[in-house]
Amino acid sequence: MSGELVPRKKRRAQVVAVSGGKGGVGKTFFSVNFAVELSKRGYRVLIFDGDINLSNVNILLHINDTPEFKRFLTGEKPVEEIILKGVGGVDVISAGNDIDALLSLNEEMIARISDALSIIEDRYDFIIVDTQAGINEFNINLITNADRAVMITNQEITSLVDLYKVIKVISGRRKGLLYEIVVNRVTMADLAGIVFQKIKNTVQKFNIKSNLKLIGYIFDDPKRVLESIQKQVPFVILHENNPVTECFKIITDNFLAGKIQKRGVSFLSMLLGRG
Ligand SMILES: Nc1ncnc2c1ncn2[C@@H]1O[C@H](COP(=O)(O)OP(=O)(O)O)[C@@H](O)[C@H]1O
Ligand SMILES: [Mg+2]
Repeated sequence: MSGELVPRKKRRAQVVAVSGGKGGVGKTFFSVNFAVELSKRGYRVLIFDGDINLSNVNILLHINDTPEFKRFLTGEKPVEEIILKGVGGVDVISAGNDIDALLSLNEEMIARISDALSIIEDRYDFIIVDTQAGINEFNINLITNADRAVMITNQEITSLVDLYKVIKVISGRRKGLLYEIVVNRVTMADLAGIVFQKIKNTVQKFNIKSNLKLIGYIFDDPKRVLESIQKQVPFVILHENNPVTECFKIITDNFLAGKIQKRGVSFLSMLLGRG
């Protein structure tokens, strides 16, 4: 089965977890620009900001107010009323910057989140889940139960080590998931292949049973990336003709050409680990 979907046709979304282990490697920057690139191609896309406590998807998509998420978590608001409209035609569910109620998610809240996602699954082609750094149960469940896992890394050893850890934990729980690797912040295209080979060798050396595929790289461009974040305009919109934007196009092509690994369960059972 091909990864290409017919835009605007009613069917269940592919849930794509964007992970990588370490903080600061570019998961959120990737999630937002990848989502916008998919949306530009006519797909219906929602980003779920899984970094509940340190949300910033909303900032990158110029959503400065997320007043209702807390009331959604407490059951006072239905999911329909917390879907926000970001720039670039991307919908967003984000906790935003209202931190008081969010420091610990209880099981009831997690059930509410997963229930909400399963309600809206058939309204989108892709639900991109921007995950938080680190290995915790909520995070691991999000990745384990997604249809696809895009792993963001850079070339730094700390970022690579954290990536192995996440792949090891996930591989222990979910057989056969393909890890679609993106190497971020490269200064030369050749670096991506070198980093990818390093990841493969290490995963083999530690006998972690997993399938890895390099789907692309993103050039390091601190000046323009900072500019796009400060202007709250996604990079691929702000700089349509730019090597970084070109990287996102290639990644999206490779991603769409890839296979779907349908999970076959709804979000409700999945986040609670009952899938
Ligand atoms: N390709 C890139 N070139 C330059 N800076 C980048 C690039 N990708 C990400 N950054 C920067 O790295 C920082 C961390 O990115 P972010 O997406 O928030 O990481 P994460 O979500 O993994 O914690 C941000 O300040 C962002 O500006
Ligand atoms: Mg982030």
